[in-house]
Amino acid sequence: MCGIVGYVGRQQALEVVVGGLRRLEYRGYDSAGVAVIADGTLSVRKKAGKLVNLQTLLGEDPLPGSTTGIGHTRWATHGGPTDSNAHPHVSEDGSIAVIHNGIIENFAELRQELTAAGVQLSSETDTEVVAHLLARELPAADHDLTGAMLSVCSGLEGAFTLVAIDARHPDVVVAARRNSPLVVGIGDGENFVASDVAAFVDYTRQALELGQDQVVTITATSVSVVNFDGTPALVTPFEVDWDASAAEKGGFDLFMLKEIAEQPRAVADSLRGRVDADNRIQLDEMHLSEQDLRSIGKVVVVACGTAFHAGMVAKYAIEHWTRIPVEVELASEFRYRDPIVGADCLVIAISQSGETMDTLMALRYAAAQGARTLAICNTVGSTIPRESDAVLYTYAGPEIAVASTKAFLTQIIASYLVGLYLAQVRGQMTAPEIHAVMDDLNDMPHAVDLALDTVDGVRAIARQFADATSVLFIGRHVGFPVALEGALKLKELAYMHAEGFAAGELKHGPIALIEEGVPVVVVVPSPRNRAVLHDKIISAIQEVRARGAVILAIAEEGDDKITSFADHVIRVPIVPALMQPLVSTVPLQVFACEMATAKGHDVDQPRNLAKSVTVE
Ligand code: M6R
Repeated sequence: MCGIVGYVGRQQALEVVVGGLRRLEYRGYDSAGVAVIADGTLSVRKKAGKLVNLQTLLGEDPLPGSTTGIGHTRWATHGGPTDSNAHPHVSEDGSIAVIHNGIIENFAELRQELTAAGVQLSSETDTEVVAHLLARELPAADHDLTGAMLSVCSGLEGAFTLVAIDARHPDVVVAARRNSPLVVGIGDGENFVASDVAAFVDYTRQALELGQDQVVTITATSVSVVNFDGTPALVTPFEVDWDASAAEKGGFDLFMLKEIAEQPRAVADSLRGRVDADNRIQLDEMHLSEQDLRSIGKVVVVACGTAFHAGMVAKYAIEHWTRIPVEVELASEFRYRDPIVGADCLVIAISQSGETMDTLMALRYAAAQGARTLAICNTVGSTIPRESDAVLYTYAGPEIAVASTKAFLTQIIASYLVGLYLAQVRGQMTAPEIHAVMDDLNDMPHAVDLALDTVDGVRAIARQFADATSVLFIGRHVGFPVALEGALKLKELAYMHAEGFAAGELKHGPIALIEEGVPVVVVVPSPRNRAVLHDKIISAIQEVRARGAVILAIAEEGDDKITSFADHVIRVPIVPALMQPLVSTVPLQVFACEMATAKGHDVDQPRNLAKSVTVE
């Protein structure tokens, strides 16, 4: 949460920083602010609301030209989304500006200490203390901003990325990181720090991953990184494997629509290169030995939100293929319930961003209990893969819309690859059996493409439901997590009551929610390979229809039986049962997107949310 960017180089810093903030706005949009240094003077502009408000302010009250600057887009934690709580925060003498992502847990004590020393604080944030602490530490650090940052960080508790500039050192940007994202962009005569490479990919694709508890100092021509104890740090360079156009709307009205449309490509990319010349699955990034994988007695998936739903889908496939029990846990609950994890457990953390704090904490807990850990992640260089024993990257490309779409499909693909790999290593499936599933998976980019043909039909139906106060989603087998995902999308985008249920559970309570006109979206299992479930879901439809529900069925082509039981039918291509989530989710994404559009909501930046949830 919160997007931060720092720049020093040869261009107008404000342009680079505001461009970076535009790319990072998905991380939070409660307020935005910038600071630059020109002629030895620090100047700040900040404004509550989206970046556009700051841009208006900058038009009315321009900043001087400068080649050093920082910028911030906020997701509020401490203190409401006001102008005064917006970052940057400035020291009392007006010389130091600080931006921050994360939470400084001991800020109350620090505030008290500063107030007792006579410092006037002008915001309710936890961040502001850092600006005053840096000002206090600078003299003792011989006016070296890096030294002051190291000394301030030693007294901070919690998770933070901090970026600071000092008017007396106009060519330097200093940043610190603990449990919160920070990457460095290496340019030619210019350097960058940011929460995410998206902020600087317009200018360079050369980047550095920082480790935990490190401070980086950049000038236009140098980058130096030290650990919090002052020792030189090891950093890992990497090249960003997508270009700036991937983070643009590319002719679509919304990032979400673009990302929905990109799903066939994302699925194809996530499958590419996974089979060797002998037709065996090879997972290059998976650095767990076959011996380790053979000794696993249990798989535990930890994840949040959409990624949790991907884990729920994966459970059906992994258990079916490997006969290893799979538990799927909400990451935020995992470590607080004394879970049974040990050396025979493979804990899979699924996270698009690789920065979700709940998932990171669950992963760390599992690692501390001796479990083997594997990350399924879309963001190279992020914390979760860095802290895992092994990683399997999804190749969805940048996902900018807050609502997750292509990440979900590619997380399912990656989890399936892990399942098949486990089955291969443990001899649970024969080579032809694995090959047959891989063939099915390789058909999926085309199938997802066909599922995109539903877009216009779904949009028309969604418009008809736009005034509904509540929408229920039901499914069975892998259709159950799809129902949960459909409901989550609708909640976060259309701000309406939406719930997903296993269809069999309806009669155990939720059916009481049904009244005349309530839309029920039904993810219908295939009548071919899931005939029993198909019959049972028809019974569930009958039960809710008898009580006034309006049925929107997501059913496969050729499922004629469903027609007479539904008010609307959206057809998805015929695929094997375990592949169904990859096609049936698509219309549900479009449904939520269209409902939100019909209500006039900001689809890409829904209220109260942020893309990357870096606080617990
Ligand atoms: O980056 P992650 O995959 O770890 O994010 C997990 C959830 O916060 C995320 O999937 C969230 O639920 C989505 N906004 C839902 O669309």
